Amino acid sequence: MAANIAAAHASHLAQVFAQYPVEVVHGEGVWLHARDGRKILDFYGGHAVAGLGYGHPRWLAALERQSRQMAFQTNALPMLIRERAAAKLTKFAALGLDTVFWLSSGAEANENALKLAFKLTGRSKAVALQQSFHGRTAAAGAVTWGALKKWYGFPRTPFDVAFTPRDDAAALDGIIDADTAAVIVEPVQGVGGAYPVGKPMLQALRQRCDAVGALLIFDEVQCGVGRCGTPFAANFYGVTPDMLTAAKALGNGFPVSALLLSRRIAAELKYDDLGTTFGGGPMACAIAEAVIDTIESETLLANVRQVSNYIRSSCIVGPVTGVQGLGFLLGLKTSRPAKEVQAALLDRNVLAGTSADPNILRLLPAYIMNEGHVDRLSDALAKIPA
Ligand SMILES: Cc1ncc(COP(=O)(O)O)c(C=O)c1O
Repeated sequence: MAANIAAAHASHLAQVFAQYPVEVVHGEGVWLHARDGRKILDFYGGHAVAGLGYGHPRWLAALERQSRQMAFQTNALPMLIRERAAAKLTKFAALGLDTVFWLSSGAEANENALKLAFKLTGRSKAVALQQSFHGRTAAAGAVTWGALKKWYGFPRTPFDVAFTPRDDAAALDGIIDADTAAVIVEPVQGVGGAYPVGKPMLQALRQRCDAVGALLIFDEVQCGVGRCGTPFAANFYGVTPDMLTAAKALGNGFPVSALLLSRRIAAELKYDDLGTTFGGGPMACAIAEAVIDTIESETLLANVRQVSNYIRSSCIVGPVTGVQGLGFLLGLKTSRPAKEVQAALLDRNVLAGTSADPNILRLLPAYIMNEGHVDRLSDALAKIPA
C-alpha cells in the first residue's frame, strides 16, 4: 500500500500495470531502442499487436494518406474506405462470415458479440473455457476465467456463466444446454499460455452448439489476423464459428477491432441494435486494409509458419523443455519459473512475455521475424541455466 501511494505520487498514471525494467523510446522492425541505449529484440510485439513490427512503411503510408484525406467521420455518413476494408477483411478470412461491425478494442468486440447472442437467442447463459481471457469490460470480464476473484469489480455478472475444462469434450453435454446463448472460445488461448484448444475440442464445441441452438463465438483477438500462420485459427482448424472477433494485430498499433458475423446473424440485425462512435472510423479502416494488404503481398503467413517451425526445432535449449501453440503465438515450457527466464532474457536484450501459466514463456513476435532473429533468442536461452 505504502509503495502504491509513493508510486501514485511519482506519476500521473493510474498505477495498475506492473512494468518491465526498461523504458522504450523508439521501434524499428523487430527492434526496440531503450532510453539507456540498449537495442532489444522484441518477441512480445506489444502484447500481440505489432504484427508488422514497428514503423512498417505501408502502415505509415496508410496512416499519412488517410489522415490527410479525412481522419474521422461518423458511421452515419457512408465512406468507401469503410466498405473496402470490410470487403478486404471478409475476403482474407474466407470463412463465410461476410458482415463486419467495426469497433475499437478486443473487449468491445467480445462485448458486442455476446450482446448479440443474448439478444438473438433470448437465453440466459454463456459458456467459456477455463483459463480463458476475453477482456476487461462487464460481459467480456464475466467470461474470463478467474476474473471474478481477481479484478472483476462489478457486484454481479450481466448473465449466467459456466466454465468448462479446455481439454474435455465429454464435459460439454452437461454444460452447454438449452439455456446457453453463446459459447466463447479462443481457439489458441493467449493469456492462458499459448494453449491450442485443438481441432477435436473445437469440433465438439461446434457440434454441441448446433445441437442446442447456441451461437459459437471465436475470440481471435490475440490468435487471429495471421498470427497462427493462417488468416485466422478458424481456417487452420477448419471449424467455423457464428461470430468471430479480431483486434490487436489488425491495427498494428492503431486501435481497431472487428466483429465478423454469419449471414444468418447479419440478417437479423436492425438499425440501432449496435453502435459506436470510433468503430469504423476512416483511419482505423485504412490501417486495417493496409495491414491485411501487407500480410498478403509480403507473404507473411508463409513466413510465420516457416519461422514458427524453426523456433520449435531450435529453441528447446537451456531452461526450455518444450513448445506449445501455433504460428507466432507460442509458449515455451520452462523448467524454472517463466518470470525468471524472462528477466534473464531481458538482461541479454531479448524481450519475451509470460502468461497465466507460471511455466510458460509467451512469444508473440512480429510476422517479419526471421530465422537469424530466432538464433539470437536460442543463443540467449542456451546461456540461461536450466
Ligand atoms: C484473447 C483476447 N481477447 C480479448 C482481449 C481484450 O482486448 P483489449 O485489451 O483490446 O480490450 C485480449 C487482450 O489481451 C485477448 O488476448
